[in-house]
Amino acid sequence: MSGDLHAERVVLQRGARSGLPVIVAVHSTALGQALGGCRLAQYPDWRYGLADALRLAAAMSDKCALAGLAHGGGKTVVALPPGRVLDPAGRRDLLHDVGDVIASFGGTYATGPDVGTGPDDMVTIAERTPWVFCRPVPAGGSGDSSEYTAVGVLAALRAVAAHRFGSADLAGRSFAVLGLGRVGGSVARMLAEAGATLLAADVDAGRRALAEGYGATWVSPHDCLTADVDILVPAALGGLLTARSVPELRCAAIAGPANNQLDSPATADLLHERGILWAPDIVVSAGGVIHAVAVELHHETSAQATARVRGIGGTLTAVLDTARATGSTPAAAARHHADRLIGPTG
Ligand SMILES: NC(=O)c1ccc[n+]([C@@H]2O[C@H](COP(=O)([O-])OP(=O)(O)OC[C@H]3O[C@@H](n4cnc5c(N)ncnc54)[C@H](O)[C@@H]3O)[C@@H](O)[C@H]2O)c1
Repeated sequence: MSGDLHAERVVLQRGARSGLPVIVAVHSTALGQALGGCRLAQYPDWRYGLADALRLAAAMSDKCALAGLAHGGGKTVVALPPGRVLDPAGRRDLLHDVGDVIASFGGTYATGPDVGTGPDDMVTIAERTPWVFCRPVPAGGSGDSSEYTAVGVLAALRAVAAHRFGSADLAGRSFAVLGLGRVGGSVARMLAEAGATLLAADVDAGRRALAEGYGATWVSPHDCLTADVDILVPAALGGLLTARSVPELRCAAIAGPANNQLDSPATADLLHERGILWAPDIVVSAGGVIHAVAVELHHETSAQATARVRGIGGTLTAVLDTARATGSTPAAAARHHADRLIGPTG
């Protein structure tokens, strides 16, 4: 890794009310205001939170550019010490601290929900700054975006099926959905409606009834990851594709919403060598941000915004076609497309 700072501006500040480390990283505003969610998670140390913020902000720049949005990438991370649980008053104080740091960016960056935060938290942040997306609909926002992220994932799965198997029809195709949370649960429902055969897993056994309600076979997370299926759908946390896990995979293709699925860029080459088609998550997972920007900034109807989200299928096809034509990995092709749109930033 080089010692260069791949970000336009980074603020690391101890919250005046909470005393917790609030990190806001803006990677790029070359295309416009930077967007990126607010992550509230435990880290061994704030330095890990800073590294995460920088990495996630850079990924948001690529995600926005590839989605055709006039926005750059940023991220907010609050690094909670291990074991730290916030009571409601402490959470409110922290979110006000977050709002103050975001306000100091003067509108060059806006946030939204991410791991550990939801639409209601955006209402609290908005008490300190207007630069907030995805408040609940009654509070003037576009609400939880995960359903639209799932719509985008479905469009991506059809594009992958067409590219890998010659037909976008999902009926009769087999899928392993790893993680049945807000996005994964909706993806499983949509796949079941499309007539697909499903395996599903989650570390939360409470999700089993949901899976079985969609006709999915419930398996362990490891069996889901290594299942012999047409397409693996990572919908839990990132970092699951590694030099260790890739040799164990038996799927033909991978496409899902989980952010940062590859533990390192070199893992894309390992997947390519094994003949497994990997759809870059920065393209697959953009539905939520596409919908929020279309509704909240461009005042489009949800139907118009949803049609834009389905455009992810065409974007992914273009990336996969470039990869095929140049003999490169889809990751390298996505990098090439993003660089063409925003210029090399790193
Ligand atoms: N919500 C969105 O709109 C959105 C947008 C873009 C990207 N993403 C990404 O998609 C992923 C899922 O997001 P979400 O909003 O559905 O989150 P979520 O927290 O609602 O769901 C995640 C699910 O994964 C499960 N899980 C966690 N670790 C697991 C493991 N090791 N094995 C199996 N299951 C595990 C959790 O129990 C949970 O049910 C995340 O990586 C997120 O960053 C979400």
